Amino acid sequence: MKRFEKHIFVCENVRPKDHPRGCCSEKGSRELRQIFKKRLKELGLNTQVRANAAGCLDACEYGITVLVYPEQIWYGGVTENDVDEIIQKHIIENKPVERLMIKDKRFNRDE
Ligand code: FES
Repeated sequence: MKRFEKHIFVCENVRPKDHPRGCCSEKGSRELRQIFKKRLKELGLNTQVRANAAGCLDACEYGITVLVYPEQIWYGGVTENDVDEIIQKHIIENKPVERLMIKDKRFNRDE
């Protein structure tokens, strides 16, 4: 039996304010991960799904970047308003949330 069925990696990388690439933490990614954790716990999913802090996922221009394994689905521009939809559709129903998927083919490829 697997320890966790899914991992939600949330980029919490921090860069200096004047860095040209910016960072997900300045957009509120730490708070976002806490909201994921809280909702997973409220729904009783926290023993099967873990919301992990990640370093830079190299999709900074799309941040806040969230990566869900094992499906390897990359989400960009995620806000707290998207948490419930990601949990309901992707985590529970196994249907990735198309509108939040990064369109750049370096991340999500058509298969
Ligand atoms: S700083 Fe978040 S993906 Fe690079």
